[in-house]
Amino acid sequence: MAQRWKNTLKDHHVTDEAVFMNRRQLMGGTAAGLGLAAVGATASFAQSEELVASSYEDITEYNNYYEFGTGKDDPAKYADALITEPWSVTIDGMVDKPGAYAFEDIMAAMTIEERIYRFRCVEAWSMVIPWNGFELADLLDMAGVQSGAKYVAFETALRPDEMPGVKFPVLDWPYVEGLRLDEAVHPLTMMATGIYGKDIPNQNGAPLRLVVPWKYGFKSIKSVVRITLTDKQPPTSWNKANAREYGFYSNVNPEVDHPRWSQASERVVGGGLFSKRTPTLMMNGYADEVMEMYAGMDLSKDI
Ligand code: MTE
Repeated sequence: MAQRWKNTLKDHHVTDEAVFMNRRQLMGGTAAGLGLAAVGATASFAQSEELVASSYEDITEYNNYYEFGTGKDDPAKYADALITEPWSVTIDGMVDKPGAYAFEDIMAAMTIEERIYRFRCVEAWSMVIPWNGFELADLLDMAGVQSGAKYVAFETALRPDEMPGVKFPVLDWPYVEGLRLDEAVHPLTMMATGIYGKDIPNQNGAPLRLVVPWKYGFKSIKSVVRITLTDKQPPTSWNKANAREYGFYSNVNPEVDHPRWSQASERVVGGGLFSKRTPTLMMNGYADEVMEMYAGMDLSKDI
């Protein structure tokens, strides 16, 4: 895939997966050490338990991006049609500087970091993904969030000519998502623009997508074109489709099952013959960082 955005990496370069993997092996020993080596400045976000990154192929060939079809391999097959250059993100609503922000201006203003995060889909599969990107809080700062804003709404591009899947009413297009403002500005919440040091492939949500590692993957909306600050809880696609099964919060919680399946464990994608289910962690392993935001909430009801 062509390098569309030359300045995707600013801090240090992970040129390709082999180098990345080598560096990790050189570190030997524990995965925590590996995480520290790989993410540098963001070491505090590396978890102490073992984090073994999924392969680039698994991350980019097994996807959910229903605008390109509902099969796991449809996004890799069809998402090349998405035109990602030029791209801009409209930031509006309760902000001081509303407007259309060009992707290259955003990239020039942001500090790009590498972060290795667990990624847990509501369908009970998981991966470990080395993202490149920046904190959403820094982007929101660019626009100046006004006091009174309580939520952040996100919207994916809707391009029927480029997205074969939107012919089908699987969801009410465009795909929309939302976070409470404190969740949106949490330092773990990022906008990803790369994977393994390469520009993020279209099937993973080019040119920029949300990543909220303690929530089920469907909260991590792809190919974002609009971000709206609001004082009302925004509608979200899966919640609109089935509110009983998909709540606004959708925090990873092994103790609260999906109405149709258990969420207590997960299948690690790419495990091959040796694939086994591993226990799902509260808040996907980020409980220490995020749990206090939900103090006083009944997590079995406020799903
Ligand atoms: N964003 C859009 N616009 N459309 C989608 O279908 N799928 C969601 C989320 N973001 C989706 C989306 C779901 S269900 C998951 S699990 C993740 O993207 C998958 O991200 P990945 O393909 O990068 O693993």
